[in-house]
Amino acid sequence: MSARVVSLTGATGFIGSVLRERLITRGVEVRALARSRSAMTADGTKWISGTLEDEQALAELTRGADTVIHCAGKVRGRNARDFDEVNVQGSKRLMEAARMSGSCERFLLISSLAARYPTLSWYAASKFEGECQVREAAGTIPVCIFRPTAVYGPGDRELRPVFEWLLRGWLVTPGKGDSLLSFLHVDDLVSAVMQWLDAPVMQSQTFELCDGQAQGYDWASLASIATDIRNAPVRHAVVPAKVLKGIARANLVLSRFTRQAPMLTPGKVNELMHPDWTCSNARISAVLGWEPQILLGQALRNHLY
Ligand SMILES: NC(=O)c1ccc[n+]([C@@H]2O[C@H](COP(=O)([O-])OP(=O)(O)OC[C@H]3O[C@@H](n4cnc5c(N)ncnc54)[C@H](OP(=O)(O)O)[C@@H]3O)[C@@H](O)[C@H]2O)c1
Repeated sequence: MSARVVSLTGATGFIGSVLRERLITRGVEVRALARSRSAMTADGTKWISGTLEDEQALAELTRGADTVIHCAGKVRGRNARDFDEVNVQGSKRLMEAARMSGSCERFLLISSLAARYPTLSWYAASKFEGECQVREAAGTIPVCIFRPTAVYGPGDRELRPVFEWLLRGWLVTPGKGDSLLSFLHVDDLVSAVMQWLDAPVMQSQTFELCDGQAQGYDWASLASIATDIRNAPVRHAVVPAKVLKGIARANLVLSRFTRQAPMLTPGKVNELMHPDWTCSNARISAVLGWEPQILLGQALRNHLY
């Protein structure tokens, strides 16, 4: 089945922008939610002004759409409530609007691999609870949940500095640096969404997605990729876990005054120190026939980040 009208949230963000462009290129009618007028590009997108808190905007967004793709999310916050308002309540509100529209045939939620471990951080808990609320509010609408691992690519602000430092010859690891990581290029994630769109409407299910690197990446393997590309060694700097946690706690105190959501919070440190972020594409490959095309090493070598 191919979508005719897609309602998209998060279309002004890193992943959602790439998704929106790909949908437009495919000739799909895209209705997208935007919080600010300056983000409304003139590329054929039908922009709906509003937020996930605004029921009227969500009704307008979902009216007449056969497919809803929910890619908006809060990735930084100062407290649990910040995440809950967007990732849980906002997601539930969007699903309720989709159900009320009477036109929605399927709903895709871009969740996160973090939802596997809800006790790690406010973010992880909100992504997990968001999944539960969306499924509960869905009625008979089939819900597909994508749980991508860390996503990178052009436009990404979180991982880019790490890769830039790495290619300059510096690997900075949290604690001993013995975690197993996984990554996914944004183009591969968007291709998975396209394959879901082309597939017949299926029962509700959840898929994990990564770049397919068997056993994931440890920090040493990242250093070795960079050493190969640079043809020069990479120096390893360890930031002790205690120091990171201290900075994270200080950030939270500071954020009460600045009202800015910090990147490094105690929850983010827990995520960084989690020992195993590997996952398998086996289920999504079996069901949708999707296979990622871009390994991290290739992306770094070819500046696709
Ligand atoms: N990046 C990753 O590594 C990664 C990995 C796994 C899962 N994910 C998930 O993928 C989704 C997109 O992530 P991203 O990296 O693209 O994040 P991003 O660049 O921060 O984009 C977030 C998007 O959500 C929108 N948004 C946030 N709060 C909103 C609200 N209250 N009402 C309406 N829109 C709101 C933002 O709008 P504005 O432009 O107005 O801020 C933006 O369009 C998130 O759900 C995230 O949890 C990301």
